[in-house]
This record gives sequence, structure tokens and C-alpha cells, in this order.
Amino acid sequence: MLYSEKVMDHFRNPRNVGEIENPDGVGEVGNAKCGDIMRITLKVEDGVIADAKFTTFGCGSAIATSSIATEMIMGKPVEEALELSNRAVVEALDGLPTHKIHCSVLAEEAVKAAVKDYYDKNNITYDPKIFCGLECGSCHHHGE
Ligand code: FES
Repeated sequence: MLYSEKVMDHFRNPRNVGEIENPDGVGEVGNAKCGDIMRITLKVEDGVIADAKFTTFGCGSAIATSSIATEMIMGKPVEEALELSNRAVVEALDGLPTHKIHCSVLAEEAVKAAVKDYYDKNNITYDPKIFCGLECGSCHHHGE
């Protein structure tokens, strides 16, 4: 079978779909090649992710990866959410076909972009390099 049970489950019953009102962080990223867009909103309390929701205009794998990504970061300190790699997302879903790996990258980037937005809004200082994996446009530190 092409997709694992977990992927199918998160695709059919995605968790945490929607948009948090007055979010503390918003991350919206897109993949220029496939045209898919993913948006994650965060509620942060005392430095911990109290709630996370997503909307995706994208493929089934984008839905499944963002669904499980919101589950994985919830209840974690924001710094830990930053460490969420697309590889961890793929492992949690029991794998993705190779040509669908970029969908999990979108989930990782959306989480990072939302945390970055939270840091920026709250004047929390950080090393800009930690966001250098983000799509160009979010990153203003070329040549460092
Ligand atoms: Fe682009 Fe899945 S095909 S995110």
C-alpha cells in the first residue's frame, strides 16, 4: 500500500483543523512547485504551546502531516516545537512515499514560521539562523 494507516487516518480525520482566534503566532507557507499552502496558528501560554490549529489548501499528505504536526507540538515549550523536523513527522506517520516528502517539509516550515511570528510579536530575541531553512522571503540573512 502506498500510504500507511496513520497517513490515511490523519487524512480522513484530521486533528486540530481550523484557526485560533487572536493567535499568538501565525505561520503561513507555500510550496511554489505544487502550489499547496499551509497555515498554522498557535496559542502560547507561559512559553508552552497551549493550542495549535491548521488549515491547508493542499494534498492529502499535506493534510496528514499538518494534522500530526499540530498534535506533536501541543503541550510542548516553543523551543521544542522548533526542533520538530519533517523527518520526525514522517516517522510519526509510519512513512510517506518519497515524492510526498516535500509535503512534510511544508508542515515543519509552517510550525517554524508560526513560532518565528510569536517571537517577533513578543520581542523575544533569537538567533535568526535557526530560521534559515525557511522559504526565502522569511529569511533575511543570506551571506552570513
Ligand atoms: Fe505539495 Fe503535498 S503535493 S504539499
